[in-house]
Amino acid sequence: MSSGIKSQIDQLTEELNYHSHIYYQESRSEISDFEFDQKLKELEKLEAAHPEHIREDSPTHRVGGTITKSFSTVQHKYPMLSLGNTYSKEDLVEFDKRVEKGLGTSEYEYFCELKFDGVAISLTYENGLLKKAVTRGDGVKGDDVTTNAKTIRTIPLKLSGKVPDFFEVRGEVFMPKQVFKELNEERQKNGEALLANPRNTASGTLKMQDSSVVAGRKLDCFLYSLLGEGLDPQTHEDSIHLLEKMHFHVSPTYKKCQTIDEVFGYINKWEQKRHELPVETDGIVIKVNGSDQQKELGFTAKNPRWAISYKYKAEAAETRLNGITYQVGRTGAITPVAELEPVLLAGTTVKRASLHNANEIERLDIRVGDTVYVEKGGEIIPKITGVNNHKRPENSTPTNYLSSCPECGTELIRKEGEAVHYCPNQDTCPPQVQGRVEHFISRNAMDIANLGPNTIKGLFDKSLIKGIADLYELTYEDLNGLKFEIADLVTGDVKTRSIKDKSAQNIVESLEKSKETPFQSVLFGLGIRYVGKTVAEKLAEHFKSIDRLMTASFDDILAVHEIGERIAESVVDFFQSEDNSELVQRLKAKGLQMEIVQTTPDQHLEQVYEGKTLVVSGVFSQFERDELKSLIKSMGGKVASSITGKTDYLVAGENMGPAKLEKAEKLGTTILSESEFIKMSNL
Ligand code: IVH
Repeated sequence: MSSGIKSQIDQLTEELNYHSHIYYQESRSEISDFEFDQKLKELEKLEAAHPEHIREDSPTHRVGGTITKSFSTVQHKYPMLSLGNTYSKEDLVEFDKRVEKGLGTSEYEYFCELKFDGVAISLTYENGLLKKAVTRGDGVKGDDVTTNAKTIRTIPLKLSGKVPDFFEVRGEVFMPKQVFKELNEERQKNGEALLANPRNTASGTLKMQDSSVVAGRKLDCFLYSLLGEGLDPQTHEDSIHLLEKMHFHVSPTYKKCQTIDEVFGYINKWEQKRHELPVETDGIVIKVNGSDQQKELGFTAKNPRWAISYKYKAEAAETRLNGITYQVGRTGAITPVAELEPVLLAGTTVKRASLHNANEIERLDIRVGDTVYVEKGGEIIPKITGVNNHKRPENSTPTNYLSSCPECGTELIRKEGEAVHYCPNQDTCPPQVQGRVEHFISRNAMDIANLGPNTIKGLFDKSLIKGIADLYELTYEDLNGLKFEIADLVTGDVKTRSIKDKSAQNIVESLEKSKETPFQSVLFGLGIRYVGKTVAEKLAEHFKSIDRLMTASFDDILAVHEIGERIAESVVDFFQSEDNSELVQRLKAKGLQMEIVQTTPDQHLEQVYEGKTLVVSGVFSQFERDELKSLIKSMGGKVASSITGKTDYLVAGENMGPAKLEKAEKLGTTILSESEFIKMSNL
């Protein structure tokens, strides 16, 4: 029976891998997306019931679901060195001279590649299977990110055809520019902080604990080197062709060059063209092609002598500062913005740049009418790096920083030792009030789909809402056809959008549904200063209802475990305000959850796990993982994140990592499937 299951799992794994391969590598498909998903679901089901047969190349690893609490450190077999780099072509001529001298001949070739701006990774394959993915770390030791790397669809989990028993490939994991842009647009819509650039985002994503979130981030990877004994390619070009033959993702942008002049041709060709590529690049890498010649040249302590990178200068342009405007953030923080004469920079037209704060304006002595230098490095928002003093108009006057809020007229304040000016009018300054509504609807709070900061602004502009509680008075008629504006992050271009029939309906429905959102999220959504998600959970768990929290004294709140004076004071202050208690009453009247529904430990639930420690891993069909954890707690159990000798049960969902399973088996931990857990809990 079990061997029948095994062969079913084997067959599905291979079939799905084949379709995935032709889809992602050859851009074609032989079955529909629907059929693919059906087969994948079938495999997921079989694997959940028989985790012992999950293959290392199972396509279910692509969707993630395993939680890595801490990444183990792995020593690199061969150290991961970095490259010497330069911004000057003269240095490249010097490099070429050194190569010629080192080899004692002018008979050598170069192999040029783009320098991809991501995170270096080493992938180890054993008998054709991906065994380990490790970050560069300090070059000697890196982090084991295998589970997360397996979600990257262009990294083969299993190689077909004849391949060496053991070898390593290296390359760069990156987040495609378009994916990054969409991710930031989504974050902007949800009122979340924007991510600075694709490189940092790729690096942060690889180190995320939940691999299903990593899978959703759509990382990609280019490979550019092959290492291993017995491989012996004659040239770097041969390695690249071998990588291509093994179906690794290799960027087709490389070129073999016979002379340093040809290398310059390559540099010039890609200087502008690289902006059209889906990946950020910050330069090119020049490698001596011959393997023996590479060996002959060898390494310095840090870098190979046979390779160097040439970095493109951050794109810069000169343009006129037409004006300085001031933006008021949600917390009242003021950001000065340079309004520029539109200029083309790194493939986009730039109209604005951040000036950060008053100190920066003073440091640059920047004045309206000045000609300024604008630069764009890896960041999304360009920056002003200086003023061309030769072009300063004669009648120009120094910039006087704004003294009152551009939105509400209140006099600005600047706290001791802080660079930023603030508008102190929290209660009625429009962006601050709007900011609180944005926070309320955001994903971690009430999570109201289809509503974002731009729509909220539209609702304020049309006077349809004045604060949080008014959201629950909105009708389909108010929303349908409502126009609002969206400004592009970089170009400042403004587009008009309107809410159409279906979205209006969705908003009304999700507002209605949000009334079921648990009390702790409502409390977080109120936006009490210093009350983040975790603090809100602690307060909700302790006080159980808003009524008890509202009447709690400073000392009562301070008595809660891990709550300090700053938070206690802020909570008391918040509820002392008449506006805020009116807000709470209105939300209560609308039916929002103002008390904890399930108490911990729950008297109604059997204390099945009293004194027991459980670990939860994988994805479950009947519970969200967090829900399952609180259920265990309600039944008297303790939830731990990693399996140790003290773990009593491992509750194993689908797509659980094989490492955890192995560990549990080794330590003799009782493993419960989702259905066994339900049975045991008498649910
Ligand atoms: S070859 C001995 N090729 O740049 C080092 N590196 O400073 C051999 N990089 O850590 C590296 N694109 O993360 C090489 N086409 C490319 C590259 C590349 C990006 C990164 C890599 C490395 C860093 C070197």
